[in-house]
Amino acid sequence: MKLRRFYFAAAASFIVVAGSFSVTAQVATDVATAPVYVPDMTHAGEPLPDGVIAWDETIKATDAAFDQDFAKFTFSFTNVATNVIAILTVHPSCGCTTADIPPTPWIIPAGSNGQIKVSVNLAGKAGTLFKSLTVTTDHGRKDLMLRINMQSAPPPKAMTEDEKAKGIAAAKIDRQAVFKGECATCHINKIQGKYGQQLYDAVCGICHEAEHRASMVPNLHTLNLPTNEEFWRTWITYGKPGSLMPAFAQSQEGPLNDLQIASLASFLHAMIPPNVTNAPAAK
Ligand code: HEC
Ligand code: HEC
Repeated sequence: MKLRRFYFAAAASFIVVAGSFSVTAQVATDVATAPVYVPDMTHAGEPLPDGVIAWDETIKATDAAFDQDFAKFTFSFTNVATNVIAILTVHPSCGCTTADIPPTPWIIPAGSNGQIKVSVNLAGKAGTLFKSLTVTTDHGRKDLMLRINMQSAPPPKAMTEDEKAKGIAAAKIDRQAVFKGECATCHINKIQGKYGQQLYDAVCGICHEAEHRASMVPNLHTLNLPTNEEFWRTWITYGKPGSLMPAFAQSQEGPLNDLQIASLASFLHAMIPPNVTNAPAAK
């Protein structure tokens, strides 16, 4: 780290000539011994050969809690070659991943080391995620891999028979009761910033995927109906008056915003493909 900082202090300016990809480093005249480094771009597009950069790991894995917002990784490396190396770009595989590096070209003198800090935004994600970063240097490119195992949401605490009867009775009087008071602690727990599958597991699955659910709660996987995103959006937005199916849209005094509802409709449409053979025959 110290060495690199010294080097940056010594280098007065870097001139990057876009298009031709040539990079020139000019060195202040009073530091006559500082190296002038001009990256040779001939091999930048090729795989980085062994013996140039030593990585602590090139594949990193981590577990993340179901409600974790970010997964963070640090890749450490050493320039084990005898010459200077320039890191030109670090490209994550998706917009949800960011890499924290100094301004480029990032000059790594022989024998010195550095760190690439990576952050993956987990909003709306579930299951096992694979991400990668492509590090391009003037000596070649290297892919660094990330694996994140997101734990699924813990199953909601089951209701006792008493609570169940109370819940159903309360919902019969007001189907929006699930969003209020003590009911909300289980039925709409930690839904802020959640989308898609995570949101489904939290707010829909609690009733529709429950093993011991009441008989009036239908199995959404075996509906005898043609479905599409609009079907899901309408049910989620308005529910069904006179039943236990609440209205989730904020416009109906529910807890979900339009983006969350859209993410659920799109997730459900993907998870439960419209079963046309189940559709009632056209008359
Ligand atoms: C409090 C329990 C509860 C929650 C939470 C709940 N539902 Fe329901 N849902 C029901 C009940 C009960 C019905 C049956 C309504 C009726 O009597 O027709 C139903 C019906 C439905 C239907 C209609 C199925 C059919 O047979 O036509 C859809 C679609 C649906 N729910 C989707 C959802 C989605 C998506 C969510 C999450 C945003 C959700 N539900 C959350 C209880 C719930
Ligand atoms: C301790 C967590 C918890 C609390 C608190 C809670 N529920 Fe539930 N609720 C559940 C679970 C879990 C289910 C799924 C059925 C089951 O496993 O008992 C459920 C299901 C339901 C259903 C669908 C019918 C059924 O039994 O399958 C309704 C309606 C309902 N709850 C309403 C309410 C209302 C209204 C309140 C507040 C008075 C409430 N719940 C409080 C966890 C909870």
